[in-house]
Amino acid sequence: MAAGINYNNVWAAKGVPIDVTKVHERFGEPGEFHIGGSDASGVVWATGEGVDSVAVGDRVVVHCGQWDQDDPVVAAGQDPGFATSFRIYGYESNWGSFAQFTKVQAHQCLPKAPHLTWEEAAAPTLVGATAYRMLLGWPPNVVGEGDLVLVWGGAGGLGCMAIQIVREMGGKAVAVVSSEDKADFCLKLGAVGALDRTRFSHWGMPPHWSDAEAYAQWAEGAKAFGKALWEAAGEKRSPRIVFEHPGEETVPTSIFVCDGGGMVVICAGTTGYNAVADLRYLWVRQKRLQGSHFANDEQAAAFNRLVMDGRIDPCLSQTFQFGEIGLAHQLMSENRHPVGNMAALVSAATTGMADLPSA
Ligand SMILES: NC(=O)c1ccc[n+]([C@@H]2O[C@H](COP(=O)([O-])OP(=O)(O)OC[C@H]3O[C@@H](n4cnc5c(N)ncnc54)[C@H](OP(=O)(O)O)[C@@H]3O)[C@@H](O)[C@H]2O)c1
Repeated sequence: MAAGINYNNVWAAKGVPIDVTKVHERFGEPGEFHIGGSDASGVVWATGEGVDSVAVGDRVVVHCGQWDQDDPVVAAGQDPGFATSFRIYGYESNWGSFAQFTKVQAHQCLPKAPHLTWEEAAAPTLVGATAYRMLLGWPPNVVGEGDLVLVWGGAGGLGCMAIQIVREMGGKAVAVVSSEDKADFCLKLGAVGALDRTRFSHWGMPPHWSDAEAYAQWAEGAKAFGKALWEAAGEKRSPRIVFEHPGEETVPTSIFVCDGGGMVVICAGTTGYNAVADLRYLWVRQKRLQGSHFANDEQAAAFNRLVMDGRIDPCLSQTFQFGEIGLAHQLMSENRHPVGNMAALVSAATTGMADLPSA
């Protein structure tokens, strides 16, 4: 009925860091085309043999984690995210949501929040469940009452979900943005403060530590950013969790500003993959750099419950027609897309429909 637009298909189109068609072939799926789309809302049309968790006619949203139930890691009861068969539907698997029908594994289906339209329902699951695992999946660094969390790209898809999850868990999010209107958006979502990254210029890999002068200059930039963070937070306290995804441009600063014993949790490298860590900050202040990738069934379901309960707004900012899906991804790739999340109509005839048209 509707598909969420997310960054996956920007990567798929670029062919980096992987050529997804080759991955499809490795998993025995056709490699001569790619049906993208890793977020969906719709009605179950048919079920396969042995499926009893969903029935034809159910109104569902789809989370994007797929894995082989016979995978030894999964069969042993471990987190499927650690299994080699784990892959992202509509990216590393074919048959995504940018088509009249989509093919998913039964465990990916979650109940659709009845109060949301198809396009609203399609928008938040990928980014929201990812943010949920990042913020709540890596104990003891889980967000709780009063915890300060620095959220990069606060007005983006992941960021707007992170701000709301932090708020719902009683924490305090400080958002990083690149404009005043994005700052306003984050504050309205419940961030306690916002800071504009365009005021700083020390981004990217720091100079080598052996070049004392250049390194000191970089450190001045990082310190100034840390000071601005305290101002935005309204107190002289460092973030217990840094919610990372820009990667190369920002990781050195994230590690620098993270509190002692805190965690920089990262799920992407949008600006590059060669993030440099000054190990002194990591070991002396005993900080943790934690990778995180999408979510498991329990985390996706827990996030969906927050949506069902009306505690998380999908932050749908723009809905595209089916033929405009390419345009939406181009805007995203150029960071010219609107705040929050975007969706496209697939089979839904118009926007604003929360169920099938009555006969
Ligand atoms: N591993 C996973 O499971 C997973 C799941 C979801 C997404 N992702 C990845 O995470 C990344 C972000 O996804 P998204 O949906 O949040 O994308 P998005 O909606 O485009 O948001 C990304 C935000 O990053 C900020 N940004 C852009 N360039 C930046 C820079 N040089 N330094 C700092 N911030 C910058 C932008 O905000 P400002 O310009 O306002 O700062 C933008 O709003 C993508 O690479 C996506 O593929 C991974």
